[in-house]
Amino acid sequence: MKAIAITRPGEPEVLQIVERDVPKPTGQEVLIRVFAAGVNRPDVMQRKGNYPPPPGASPDIPGLEVAGVIEAIGPDVTQWQVGDPVCALLTGGGYAEFAVAQAGHCLPVPAAFEGSGGSFVQAASLPETVFTVWHNVFQRGNLKSGEHFLVHGGSSGIGITAIQIAKAFNAKVFATAGSAEKCKACMDLGADQCINYREEDFEIALKERGIDVILDMVGGDYIPKNLRLLRPEGRLVFINTMKGGKVNGEDPVDFGLIMRNRLTITGSTLRNRKNAFKAALASEIREKVWPVLEKGLFKPVIAQTFPLAEAAEAHALMESSDHIGKIILVNEQT
Ligand SMILES: NC(=O)c1ccc[n+]([C@@H]2O[C@H](COP(=O)([O-])OP(=O)(O)OC[C@H]3O[C@@H](n4cnc5c(N)ncnc54)[C@H](OP(=O)(O)O)[C@@H]3O)[C@@H](O)[C@H]2O)c1
Repeated sequence: MKAIAITRPGEPEVLQIVERDVPKPTGQEVLIRVFAAGVNRPDVMQRKGNYPPPPGASPDIPGLEVAGVIEAIGPDVTQWQVGDPVCALLTGGGYAEFAVAQAGHCLPVPAAFEGSGGSFVQAASLPETVFTVWHNVFQRGNLKSGEHFLVHGGSSGIGITAIQIAKAFNAKVFATAGSAEKCKACMDLGADQCINYREEDFEIALKERGIDVILDMVGGDYIPKNLRLLRPEGRLVFINTMKGGKVNGEDPVDFGLIMRNRLTITGSTLRNRKNAFKAALASEIREKVWPVLEKGLFKPVIAQTFPLAEAAEAHALMESSDHIGKIILVNEQT
């Protein structure tokens, strides 16, 4: 099969097409003929050498999510059959014509997407962001109906997912993004307010409202601002710290605020979690989030698709941050 490998840490050009053996599913694994593979910011971090794959994951083929058709099943798989259309969360190996996934980490391609030409492209845009958002916003952050929710990077793959799922569960949704066009996209997806952080200080813009749950991927100088925005019992959830995980002395974090307002600071990374955790997360998502997709209350936002061979161009677009929504690699079959 053809796959894209990270030939050495570096710029997008280090992503090269290679020939590899088709992997064989064992035990609880399925083999998926990949029609579409999602590109995620963690893939960029891995390409640069800053996000090593966990043990057992493909050492050099990136790709954390795919959609396609089950080609073969391992001897212990009972819930899927050859030919089933699925999307799946992977620990790596998605930038390829075939990939193995844990059976418990697969979900059916939503019927609402079927029939449209891009159903696999849309389905491939889901697993990494839906798993991350459900776990961090709803399981860790415990977002409840009627609460105020803020997501930074509102037009990112994570952001467009967080806005729509939080809206579907009746939160009041706020977002930040880096341009008027990105803010419009967030509003079109249902955000109640989006702050263009290049023109306005989000802390000042949202101070009167107060926020119950914040999903942050930025960190750095956002950290003390986030803490000051939280209402009593508020929850601050980190999924990355793109501007740094440490706070400088100009605006120090007031830990007294955490006590006085009984705040919770938490966060997680998905990729290194155990298979059983991800399988339990997948079943909860199938029960709670898949009905939202089936009702058409969630719109996948595809910024651009690229042929698998053009993975380097896809990474360059992601690093430009010019995109809104998800970037997807497609194999010729689609
Ligand atoms: N912990 C986990 O389990 C987990 C899982 C998946 C993803 N993540 C993280 O979630 C974030 C979003 O991932 P994604 O795949 O959705 O990414 P993405 O689509 O590339 O979006 C990232 C967006 O963040 C915004 N941004 C704000 N500050 C930035 C900065 N200092 N540097 C770069 N971008 C900045 C940019 O939009 P603006 O123009 O608005 O600034 C950019 O478009 C990433 O940081 C990723 O590492 C974490």
